[in-house]
Amino acid sequence: MKITVVGAGAVGASCAEYIAIKNFASEVVLLDIKEGYAEGKAMDLMQTASLNGFDTKITGITSDYSVTAGSDIAVITSGIPRKPGMTREELIGINAGIVKSVSSSLIEHSPNVILIVVSNPMDTMTYLVHKTTDLPKNKIIGMGGALDSARFKYRLAEAMQAPISDIDGMVIGGHSDKGMVPLASHATRNSIRVSEFLSMERLEQVVADTKVGGATLTGLLGTSAWYAPGAAVSAMAQAIACDQKKMFPCSSFLEGEYDLNDICIGVPVILGKNGIERIVDIPLSDAEKAKMQESAVGVTKTNGLLEL
Ligand code: LAC
Repeated sequence: MKITVVGAGAVGASCAEYIAIKNFASEVVLLDIKEGYAEGKAMDLMQTASLNGFDTKITGITSDYSVTAGSDIAVITSGIPRKPGMTREELIGINAGIVKSVSSSLIEHSPNVILIVVSNPMDTMTYLVHKTTDLPKNKIIGMGGALDSARFKYRLAEAMQAPISDIDGMVIGGHSDKGMVPLASHATRNSIRVSEFLSMERLEQVVADTKVGGATLTGLLGTSAWYAPGAAVSAMAQAIACDQKKMFPCSSFLEGEYDLNDICIGVPVILGKNGIERIVDIPLSDAEKAKMQESAVGVTKTNGLLEL
């Protein structure tokens, strides 16, 4: 199992680190355009191998996509991250050109690759890859929902003063401050709805805090977060690499599911060796359906800024 991570910044390096620590890939290639940078990160990570107990070989390379040849999975993290006060949508001008050229270089050397798109605005970047490459839709997966769901679970656990392992919950919709749809009515603690433990007001606060999860961290860190994004990517890559058939909300190309068409947006999917093996259509309340439609309007508006 060979996995390429494009972009050796904080998010890309965190992806490589978590993938290596979980020890399910034989090889990780870290690629960056900054001379020597990916090589340095790869060497530093490799020097943790004996300490962290992994055998994954991490190689760093500057811009030479021939080294990525034969990748089973590739993760696109390249582009600029947001700064405090910026929305993910504001990154489109620079990131669209980067994602287009990175995806085409990856596919040129690994025609059977499964792509995980992380660069923002993520749903629109995932849609861009659909529109500009010949990869089948099951092989183009946007990372957003897995991260947003992890943030939702964190906030729920915090509010209930419960261990996170007790909590289950999902965030669907667009990966944006306004567009996320945390499914509060479906969230549970050991199969009991969280509404049994939290007041409506507290639950609304959890939902609001979840939606601005990325912006809160950008405000604290001065740039966008990396640990949880890296962990979300590695969980998705492991589900694919190990054919786990795990369910994650991922940005997927929809053709009628959730009454949406010609859009990539977060919905629950089954991830296995073929990438997106199935889109899971879960019953939503009328309020959740309305939020999902509203979220789709926002993503479609951002998609309209692409020069396709
Ligand atoms: C975040 C970025 C990865 O939400 O979109 O932290």
